[in-house]
Amino acid sequence: MPSPSPIKPSPVKLYDFHPPVEDFRSAVLRGLSLPQKMLSPQFLYDKRGSELFDAICQLPEYYLTRTEMDILRANAKDIAAALGDRSLVELGSGSSQKIRILLDAAPQVATYVGVDISRQHLQEACAALMADFDGLDAIAVCADYTQPLPIESIPELRNRPTIGFFPGSSIGNLEPAEAIAFLKTVAVLGDLIVGVDLKKSPIILEPAYDDTQGISAAFALNVLVRINRELGANFDLSQFEYRAHYNEAKGRIEMAIASLCDQTVHLGDTEIGFKAGETLRTECSYKYTVDEFQLLAMEAGFQPVQVWIDRHQLFSLHHLKQM
Ligand code: AVI
Repeated sequence: MPSPSPIKPSPVKLYDFHPPVEDFRSAVLRGLSLPQKMLSPQFLYDKRGSELFDAICQLPEYYLTRTEMDILRANAKDIAAALGDRSLVELGSGSSQKIRILLDAAPQVATYVGVDISRQHLQEACAALMADFDGLDAIAVCADYTQPLPIESIPELRNRPTIGFFPGSSIGNLEPAEAIAFLKTVAVLGDLIVGVDLKKSPIILEPAYDDTQGISAAFALNVLVRINRELGANFDLSQFEYRAHYNEAKGRIEMAIASLCDQTVHLGDTEIGFKAGETLRTECSYKYTVDEFQLLAMEAGFQPVQVWIDRHQLFSLHHLKQM
């Protein structure tokens, strides 16, 4: 874990644990050499990727964000009571829109810590929160939230009661075993409020991940733009297409970029061959029933306390306590 860079001149305090570029290069090379080529979803979120993801959240087909926000609004009082006056740590905070609903309902929360890999996006979001919520201290932690959070290096979190907020069903982007390991890791935060997308028909699921405007496709393909820019590769985007499919047996949406022809891509000195139709997996998004997720949480040592669900039973928000 790198030591934090000095604080930047900005109203927002930033602790920077961003992994070095070398990690990106070696992770990409490793992922592209697997029999099923794959990349970690965290690499989707450069500045452009974060903007595209925000655009996905506004899509009519992408019901997740608005439904979770409806659940938060409808149950804001209950959830605010569950928070108490603990410092609120949001993992994968993105543009921090959902937290506004909670902060409105929980004026007793004095410290907000946003953890996200996209540094600039995170700083802007924290600055906006400080401007809009009087007396709120909003702290930016640029880090891969799937890695152990270096709480000891963040004075605002050390020896303070905290509660973790992990909205958006980002837990679904982890393999179930990884999700259990992740929950064990974030147990240092105490209780958790976790958003989880529910299992449902592919007729609803697939368009949510492959919209008519092509924003989901642009989001996935942007990782190739990033690899070209940051690692000097020569992916020709016109020779690839985006695909999203619901694998019902595994209960997950599988997102991938497929090669349209036999081709060789150069990444520095390394040549990467693609067969026509071969895919590069960019993400999986697991869907859970309430029971399935509660079992998973219990395996990680949490006790389910409460679950809030919308009236169409699309999405769930779980309050988990340490056992
Ligand atoms: C961040 N995460 C919860 C999104 C999802 O729904 O799995 C990522 C995403 N990728 C494409 N569309 C949405």
